[in-house]
Amino acid sequence: MTTNSNVVLSVPVEKESPLIFFVNGKKVTDAEPDPECTLLTYLRDKLRLCGTKLGCGEGGCGACTVMISRVDRATNSIKHLAVNACLMPVCAMHGCAVTTIEGIGSTRTRLHPVQERIAKSHGSQCGFCTPGIVMSMYALLRSMPLPSMKDLEVTFQGNLCRCTGYRPILEGYKTFTKEFSCSMGDKCCKVNGNKGCNGAESEQNGVNDQLFEKSEFLPFDPSQEPIFPPELHLNPQFDAVNLVFTGPRSTWYRPVELLDLLKLKAEHPHGKIIVGNTEVGVEMKFKQFLYPVHINPIKVPELNEIRELEDSILFGSAVTLMDIEEYLRGRTEKLPRHQTRFFRCAMKMLHYFAGKQIRNVASLGGNIMTGSPISDMNPILTAACAKLKVCSLVDGKVHTREVRMGPGFFTGYRKNTILPHEVLVAIHFPKTSKDQYFVAYKQARRRDDDIAIVNAAINVTFEPNTNIVQEIYMAFGGMAPTTLMAPATSKIMVKQKWDRVLVERVAESLCVELPLASSAPGGMIAYRRSLVVSLFFKAFLAICQELMQAGVLEANVIPERELSGAETFHTPILKSAQIFERVRSEQSTCDPIGRPKIHASALKQATGEAIYCDDIPRHENELYLALVLSTKAHANIISIDATDALRQPGVHAFFSSKDLTQHENEVGTVFHDEEVFASKKVNCQGQVVGAIVADNQVLAQRAARLVHIKYEEVYPVIITIEQAIEHKSYFPNYPQFNEKGNIDKALKEADHVYEGSCRMGGQEHFYLETNACVSTPRDNDEIELFCSTQNPSEIQKLVAHVVSLPCHRVVCRSKRLGGGFGGKESRSIILALPVALASYRLGRPVRCMLDRDEDMMTTGTRHPFLFKYKVGFTKEGLITACNIECYANAGWSMDLSFSVLERAMNHFENCYRIPNIKVGGWVCKTNLPSNTAFRGFGGPQGMFAAEHLIRDVARIVGKDYIDVMRINFYKTGDITHYNQRLEDFPIERCMNDCLEQSKFHEKRAQIVEFNRKNRWRKRGISLVPTKYGIAFGAMHLNQAGALINIYADGSVLLSHGGVEIGQGLHTKMIQCCARALGIPTELIHISETATDKVPNTSPTAASVGSDINGMAVLDACEKLNRRLRPIKEAHPNASWHAWINKAYFQRISLSASGFYKMPDVGDDPAKNPNARTYNYYTNGVGVSVVEIDCLTGDHQVLSTDIVMDIGSSLNPAIDIGQIEGAFMQGYGLFVLEELIYSPQGALYSRGPGMYKLPGFADIPGEFNVSLLTGAPNPRAVYSSKAVGEPPLFIGSTAFFAIKEAITAARAERGLSVHFQLEAPATAARIRMACQDEFTELIDQPPTDAHKPWNVVP
Ligand SMILES: Cc1cc2nc3c(=O)[nH]c(=O)nc-3n(C[C@H](O)[C@H](O)[C@H](O)COP(=O)(O)OP(=O)(O)OC[C@H]3O[C@@H](n4cnc5c(N)ncnc54)[C@H](O)[C@@H]3O)c2cc1C
Ligand code: FES
Ligand code: FES
Repeated sequence: MTTNSNVVLSVPVEKESPLIFFVNGKKVTDAEPDPECTLLTYLRDKLRLCGTKLGCGEGGCGACTVMISRVDRATNSIKHLAVNACLMPVCAMHGCAVTTIEGIGSTRTRLHPVQERIAKSHGSQCGFCTPGIVMSMYALLRSMPLPSMKDLEVTFQGNLCRCTGYRPILEGYKTFTKEFSCSMGDKCCKVNGNKGCNGAESEQNGVNDQLFEKSEFLPFDPSQEPIFPPELHLNPQFDAVNLVFTGPRSTWYRPVELLDLLKLKAEHPHGKIIVGNTEVGVEMKFKQFLYPVHINPIKVPELNEIRELEDSILFGSAVTLMDIEEYLRGRTEKLPRHQTRFFRCAMKMLHYFAGKQIRNVASLGGNIMTGSPISDMNPILTAACAKLKVCSLVDGKVHTREVRMGPGFFTGYRKNTILPHEVLVAIHFPKTSKDQYFVAYKQARRRDDDIAIVNAAINVTFEPNTNIVQEIYMAFGGMAPTTLMAPATSKIMVKQKWDRVLVERVAESLCVELPLASSAPGGMIAYRRSLVVSLFFKAFLAICQELMQAGVLEANVIPERELSGAETFHTPILKSAQIFERVRSEQSTCDPIGRPKIHASALKQATGEAIYCDDIPRHENELYLALVLSTKAHANIISIDATDALRQPGVHAFFSSKDLTQHENEVGTVFHDEEVFASKKVNCQGQVVGAIVADNQVLAQRAARLVHIKYEEVYPVIITIEQAIEHKSYFPNYPQFNEKGNIDKALKEADHVYEGSCRMGGQEHFYLETNACVSTPRDNDEIELFCSTQNPSEIQKLVAHVVSLPCHRVVCRSKRLGGGFGGKESRSIILALPVALASYRLGRPVRCMLDRDEDMMTTGTRHPFLFKYKVGFTKEGLITACNIECYANAGWSMDLSFSVLERAMNHFENCYRIPNIKVGGWVCKTNLPSNTAFRGFGGPQGMFAAEHLIRDVARIVGKDYIDVMRINFYKTGDITHYNQRLEDFPIERCMNDCLEQSKFHEKRAQIVEFNRKNRWRKRGISLVPTKYGIAFGAMHLNQAGALINIYADGSVLLSHGGVEIGQGLHTKMIQCCARALGIPTELIHISETATDKVPNTSPTAASVGSDINGMAVLDACEKLNRRLRPIKEAHPNASWHAWINKAYFQRISLSASGFYKMPDVGDDPAKNPNARTYNYYTNGVGVSVVEIDCLTGDHQVLSTDIVMDIGSSLNPAIDIGQIEGAFMQGYGLFVLEELIYSPQGALYSRGPGMYKLPGFADIPGEFNVSLLTGAPNPRAVYSSKAVGEPPLFIGSTAFFAIKEAITAARAERGLSVHFQLEAPATAARIRMACQDEFTELIDQPPTDAHKPWNVVP
């Protein structure tokens, strides 16, 4: 402990000064910035720069990425960093230059190559993620003009895209990398045209493999970027003066000297030090913490220093994680290898720590001081017993003390021995000694950008040149409210040999020393306990290898097949191919059908110019609405008291069921079994009880929390399917059955009868744009709504109902959506109805865009399903009968669940002909938010059952499941159990192509060999076919309308009933219109979807958007062509413009509506012999190869091959984009994404932090997609087929490949190869299915004493 007594106190703050920073080259000066305001809010609300998007508000999606640039005064260089604007306090921007998407290029001026390339490579679908991804790439190029593919991997760790499947983004941006550029420079054949380096064009067999033309790309010239503002560069005062900004509720201090910082801390011991704000920002936004004093120490030299000492490297506590990683990388290359063992561990941990945007700003001090039990750095620092330098001001004197992390440092949940008035100044990273080894592992739900489930760090020192343990420290995260050490186990290891005998003792001891209560927060009890042992074992293997390399242990002490157990997965560099049919040479070059045209608004999306609902400029007198949500899953409402809320300044009104008649309050998609506002009872957590309207979002949300609701709980609370079955909680009229043949007889006569079951979870839509709505009253009896909905007509109808107006006085408009995936088909009403009501009643515009957590809590998910089946089959594996029960967890209201269940019941046989069927369906009523449509709409769930039973049959008859599939496949002419004849069934062709494309048999043989050679790593390969029926289940919805207006200048405004959700519908409609009218696409524009243009539209759903709207467009075009024909015949050589001009002067109507009704679908078979349930089917086959880590449950998809029959593609780029995006969403559904609920129905997984969708690193290492050629579809527009939903089920190839890999692991241990694996196949489920000597050590808690933290719905 040292004390400096010669200190003269300085005054921390000299004067209040304005905040000064630059945005896109323009100076911003703000005399009164609010310390609670984020940069994102400032950009969007104050500067009206809406290109930067809000996707989550918690640093987890990257939609808000901007670049900040600042001067590094020490080196006089400029640093460019991608950061999350949603967490960055605007006050921290003093002296910085901010660059947003608007600042780098636009369609009106000049596109930046990063904008152009993502658009032209088809990397932007809905576009909501695009500005963030563009800015991540831009920031990378600003600091590294020629990056590697590895740099791209790191750069995109913090960006999510829900639409594209990432492949096209990486392909587009690969053109900036070292790997792409070759020594030929501009003359490179990859830049110049389509030929590969071998000079061969891939045009053989009428196929094409080029979705975009790289030679069209603008060249990237790094010297042309805007310069850093000289005013900021030349004036060191920006970084040298103390600052204070006082806001309404808090004050921001930026001291520049340690003494001032300590003084502030002495005066305000509970003042919040804020460095990266990545912890504090989340607390303020989502936990509503109020910190009156913010202290930003990033200019204090001592907290920013990096210094190498003899035995360590000292990092100031405010040094960012990225800077630490970079510095360590440099030193690791130079220092003797043995000294860097800790550094290498730290770098490995840092690589998987959050995303790059977070690491660019987050500090090590922030991580230590937060003391999260799942922190990544604390276990390694604790195991290293790292030295910390801590300072404070006591009696006017600077007091410095040294604190050791290690035993006793963490004293409780987020608590440590550093006192509130103290400041953590610096951290020592120790150099390791020759005989010291350091290994660390982290296991998370997703490898990149995820917090740990469990992590471990092992620091062992051996007696010189031996394997005898001299000293060992082990630390674990995720096992208690703090980082834990294992002193008792460490003790028994001292003086012992580092060998298998020790492993056994340690494993047993760790199980005892690190117990976990059965109700411990985080759940996954057995898995987490097993991870402790497994991670130790991995460390054991890794250290053995090092000892072997050092010659301390003999080379063969660990069998070779065990060595890969020490490894972790690394993201492979993407390889891919996309094959599609080449248009015929005789097709006119201006005919766009069949060509890979880019998404019509991709360029605007890439520049941030594309407008989404919340980007619509604010009206002058606009108000903001916040929902008041139920906090009980099942309860009577005793009282609602909004008095406190209404007392708040700026609050205008509170709406509840009392503001509506019972009739007005009762709403729903088909059945009016919901309420706009719950009146007497709540049926789930997150149900809307009321709405507060205030001047702005912050006030509205604060006031909403002041609405007091008294409840009387009602029992039972039913959350899971099993609970619903137990309580017979089903919707009226269920179960329903569908029978074909004679099931009892067939089962009786079958050679084998097998009873099985399978279960899969729900899925959050996680469209990047949450539900949003802006409503404006017009006159006193009209409403105009802008709404992020897939179903404008439904919104129009229900708004009209709620405010008791006829539909002709309500207009609903949707320009584009930032994704929907079914989630905005029926559930948009939750927000749109209160917003419309409030604006109508108050006579003022009202807006709301839900926060991510609100959206996730209220809008429901994909339906979880349970299937129980009894299947009868012959000795050869021919299925003769199946009796199956399908249970869907519908949540509390019916919504579309009846239809989802029906599709599941219709798809449960997938591609297999089963002559005798009894299928029963139960819509389970539970106390969850109402589950709803989600891409696939019950189809993937049904087919999941089919793939289980086909594999069960193959296992039991002892045949290859590929052969069993073949003998059971439907043939053309077969009739399904809902009596639809299969007119054309190309599944064999898809399968043969896919087997060949994927080299299935070759890979399968290699996998057998791999599995033989690897004890702890196993691979699996799996093939899955799919058959998806195209049509709405509700027959009346199979209709569409269109309106075409041709203006006198020849330009065409096209309107149709479909909404652009990112799926490229508008692009395809423009293509259809262009071919039908014989004009270039450039003459055609679609502005929006609006109920006053095309009435009574169907939702944009069921994959039929192009089919039905395309035909309506053709109908309108035909009318116009008929009218124009005489003019064209009279002037055959005139131009389009001339024809239109003549038509106008001849007073020919240049406006036509079109209509389409899907023929035969839903007709009565007695009246129409062609009557059918589905218009046709879309088929495909996929193969995936996956490798798993049996010790942790981690996995990597090594390759995926898909062959889809989508008829004659209207636009192969869009269709392949849909296939890849659907595959990744399906992969998320079956493998990664897990909804986590409390037993009381509270959703824990309310944001990207807890709910993990696939990221860039999760795409298959090799990802190949082929479209079946020569397969035109006679039943849809221009011979195409629907594509949106059908490929999603192919994501299950990863699930079944994982199951194969687990089977291999189990077979090796002599365990049964028949085991249950629920979807999603999370790391926890994979690990626990790979039973071994370590999992056997974990005792399962008795079920009656088990009070779980979470339940599976
Ligand atoms: C999207 C996202 C992903 C994340 N992923 C991970 C992850 O993978 N692994 C992981 O471990 N964490 C993760 N985190 C947590 C967080 O990023 C880290 O804890 C980070 O290191 C915090 O640093 P900061 O500078 O942003 O802290 P801040 O939010 O600025 O501060 C955090 C706390 O530390 C205190 N503090 C900071 N510096 C000092 C000091 N010098 N002296 C005393 N007190 C101080 C602050 O007062 C505050 O209480 C994630 C967070 C987000 C938002
Ligand atoms: S909005 Fe900032 S990361 Fe999601
Ligand atoms: S395009 Fe990425 S989220 Fe839609």
